Amino acid sequence: MKIDRCVCTQQSFGTLLVQAHVEGLSLSELITASGAGTCCTMCRPYVCRAYRTGVTQFEELLNHDDEPEPTDADRTVVRKLPGIRGAGTPDGPD
Ligand code: FES
Repeated sequence: MKIDRCVCTQQSFGTLLVQAHVEGLSLSELITASGAGTCCTMCRPYVCRAYRTGVTQFEELLNHDDEPEPTDADRTVVRKLPGIRGAGTPDGPD
């Protein structure tokens, strides 16, 4: 089964990462701004992993012990996203 979104807010992890990049959000700020991971919280470890790794689809089941909560170090990871202009790609402006 493919896990690729917050079911409660109906936002894909890919959409969340784009929002984080465009708005320059840290992981904590993304969670607060989008609401993803704040309702039933089942997707929260996936939101955190997606933000930290850029992976937006998962096959494995994650629980809250598998992924640490956001820290200050999470602010710049989203800049490494492949395929988003300006996200650290060779054709990006930064
Ligand atoms: S699935 Fe994301 S908060 Fe419920």
